[in-house]
Amino acid sequence: MKKTAVITGITGQDGSYLAELLLEQGYRVVGVTRRTSTQVNERINHLEGRIELVSADLLDQSSLTTVLRDAQPSEVYNLAAQSFVPASWSQPVLTGEFTALGVTRVLEAIRAVDPAIRFYQASSSEMFGKVAEVPQRETTPFYPRSPYGVAKVYGHWITVNYRESFGMFAVSGILFNHESERRGLEFVTRKISDGVARIKLGLAKELRLGNLDAQRDWGFAGDYVRAMWLMLQQAQPQDYVVATGRTHAVRDFVRLAFETVDLPWEPYVAVDPKFVRPAEVDLLIGDPSKARSKLGWQPETSFEQLVERMVRADLERLSRVVSV
Ligand code: NAP
Ligand code: GDD
Repeated sequence: MKKTAVITGITGQDGSYLAELLLEQGYRVVGVTRRTSTQVNERINHLEGRIELVSADLLDQSSLTTVLRDAQPSEVYNLAAQSFVPASWSQPVLTGEFTALGVTRVLEAIRAVDPAIRFYQASSSEMFGKVAEVPQRETTPFYPRSPYGVAKVYGHWITVNYRESFGMFAVSGILFNHESERRGLEFVTRKISDGVARIKLGLAKELRLGNLDAQRDWGFAGDYVRAMWLMLQQAQPQDYVVATGRTHAVRDFVRLAFETVDLPWEPYVAVDPKFVRPAEVDLLIGDPSKARSKLGWQPETSFEQLVERMVRADLERLSRVVSV
């Protein structure tokens, strides 16, 4: 019989890649969307007819319980969150409701409907914040630096707690930054790839950014959703760091992105204090050895390939707009 998986956050970057992977694995995929006055499902439009969409919200307990009761999944992937770090300073309470308490609501829905359902929580390297050790691994203490990071620490520990309190198969993937051509335009990598493509096509003259010195361990989202799935196929529920083990400064991403279109970066990039954060996470670099040895997972896309694929995708997309 086909396995059923429920994905919250299916309209997001990771939701779309995970849905593709689970369909390939033969799953029935049920995606949770929240009600909006206009439908913006651009990341999953190509999956129409192959996935089922149901309406629920992380703020609404009964809607989550109803979704699970109706869908009867064996696996739930909680990818939904307010995921943009700067927005967590302007909307800290909302971020706490979605990104922290929302996790408890999903866990409570599982407990009410069928505690045997396996649960994946989208934890984050933002939890390491002001890092206590380099590289960061599963045992590194958390020191979050934003309301988003604080909310993710809550989501992480409530997942551990439900595993220990109720014996649930509930796990967290501590994923480092992962990107793609489906990344939201406000995140730095996509802002850069989109900005570079606009400059190359004569649609923009400059790219305004914040802290160019911040270092991130960037991977490709398509590789990372495989690790999520693998975590739920194990005999024992455990948490895993998912990362490439390499780190680069924002400046490196910028330089490579401009190199892809044969332009120097310096004349086009301006630092704008508006994009500098009240508290920064300076250096993230993960140690993925546990995921490699226990899950057999490793990233397939290099940093250089990631930058190139994102810039080329934006060039292609914007060229179509220009030629219309
Ligand atoms: P994303 O593109 O921002 O997608 C977030 C998803 O959450 C969207 O589908 C959004 O729906 C949904 N959502 C937000 N609030 C909701 C609510 N109240 N009820 C129901 N759905 C709601 O994020 P992503 O990059 O795919 O990341 C997926 C998850 O992994 C997030 O939890 C993120 O915090 C975490 N994470 C991401 C990274 C990364 O580098 N990408 C790294 C570590 C952890 P709408 O489309 O309606 O807005
Ligand atoms: N967004 C943005 N915009 N970031 C900028 C800019 C800019 O103009 N200029 C410099 N940066 C720097 C930020 O200060 C940060 O240090 C770094 O670029 C990455 O920022 P984002 O791409 O916004 O990602 P993030 O690291 O804050 O958060 C992402 O990764 C987390 C995992 O570590 C998000 O996907 C989170 O949801 C995720 O948990």
